[in-house]
Amino acid sequence: MVLEIIRDVLAVSSAAAFLTLVLVLCEGLILNYGPCEVTINGSRKETVQGGKSLLSSLQEKKIFIPSACGGRGTCGVCKVKVLEGGGPLLPTETPLLTKQEQQAGVRLSCQVKVRGPLAIEIPEELFRVRQYQARCSRIEDLTYDMKRFTFELTEPETISFTAGQYVQLRCPPYKGSREEVMRAYSIASDPLENRRIDLIIRRVPKGICTTWCFDYLRQGDPVSFTGPFGNFYLRDTQTPKLFIAGGSGIAPFVSILWQMKHANDGRQTVFFFGGNRTEDLCLLDEMKAFEQTLLNFRFVPVVAEPAPESRWSGQTGLVTEAVQRTFERLDGWEGYLCGGPGMIEAAIRVLRQMGIPDEKIYYDKFA
Ligand SMILES: Cc1cc2nc3c(=O)[nH]c(=O)nc-3n(C[C@H](O)[C@H](O)[C@H](O)COP(=O)(O)OP(=O)(O)OC[C@H]3O[C@@H](n4cnc5c(N)ncnc54)[C@H](O)[C@@H]3O)c2cc1C
Ligand code: FES
Repeated sequence: MVLEIIRDVLAVSSAAAFLTLVLVLCEGLILNYGPCEVTINGSRKETVQGGKSLLSSLQEKKIFIPSACGGRGTCGVCKVKVLEGGGPLLPTETPLLTKQEQQAGVRLSCQVKVRGPLAIEIPEELFRVRQYQARCSRIEDLTYDMKRFTFELTEPETISFTAGQYVQLRCPPYKGSREEVMRAYSIASDPLENRRIDLIIRRVPKGICTTWCFDYLRQGDPVSFTGPFGNFYLRDTQTPKLFIAGGSGIAPFVSILWQMKHANDGRQTVFFFGGNRTEDLCLLDEMKAFEQTLLNFRFVPVVAEPAPESRWSGQTGLVTEAVQRTFERLDGWEGYLCGGPGMIEAAIRVLRQMGIPDEKIYYDKFA
């Protein structure tokens, strides 16, 4: 009985896989969409070869839409407004678009296929995004699973970015990964040092790009990335700032703290940085140095479960618990969060309860 069920399931799966293959081949070989015109922001017109995703078609024209999952339809950062064309909304898009976005014609550019003329709207700043060639000049261990990579720019030789923004690193094919992929990494260096960028990367077990960074990328190797992207930057208000990060989520705050240091920023700022164990914390000396130069800046490392032998005497438990222990209310504060989805969602809930409205909570979710 069980064998028969397995046989039937295998037969149905094979038939479905075969049909999908036939459809993909038909689309590639038989359907020729020819050149298609894409009108961008009402005036700029680009002619692209039909049949590819809008994301990759625009990339070929050197218009780089952010994409954190490399076009797999899971990150939701490749949104563009489609005014004309593009076909119906796909089931792969709906989970990542709010009702208002769907009504306004927002689509995931990695899921929209160019099959005819299209009219789209994208933020003007994306025209300034460029592709950079660089050389990996330094790789430094920060923890057992986090490294800091320094990339010296070669072409163009300088970059201009706002502290808190990210780039998309190109991970080439390597043994075990046949396709080129792009992944987002926050810039973790001084924005005034415009000839290089630092990235702080945490290894994801079996992750395509992090495996390449940790096991294949060597000092001296060429690298390529696009950017800068993102709206995670320090708002120009007098409101006190609460920073919360976990793991490699510390990256954009390093850049933001450099910016604050150059500006002699005296605004009240408290930074909670969480790790599971003491071995997960990094850059403690650099944070201490920022504390010494920034008048109103306090750094609070938090360890969820310190081992007794670590003799940890600082805050313990979840980073959100440490925030709740430190403050009764946070009315009149702004929240800046960076790290994994679980931490971000928990922190948003806590900050909301403590009095920070949603529009004053800014975050970059590493997903
Ligand atoms: C705006 C933005 C900025 C980012 N900045 C940074 C940064 O500064 N430093 C940094 O280390 N990462 C950062 N990330 C995450 C990064 O883009 C990659 O998602 C991450 O490095 C994993 O890539 P990968 O190719 O190695 O794994 P993939 O091959 O994409 O993933 C392999 C598997 O692991 C799961 N997975 C993916 N990411 C994680 C994770 N973080 N933890 C646990 N499981 C995971 C996936 O669901 C998948 O099942 C950022 C993401 C975004 C959206
Ligand atoms: S690139 Fe990630 S959803 Fe489109």
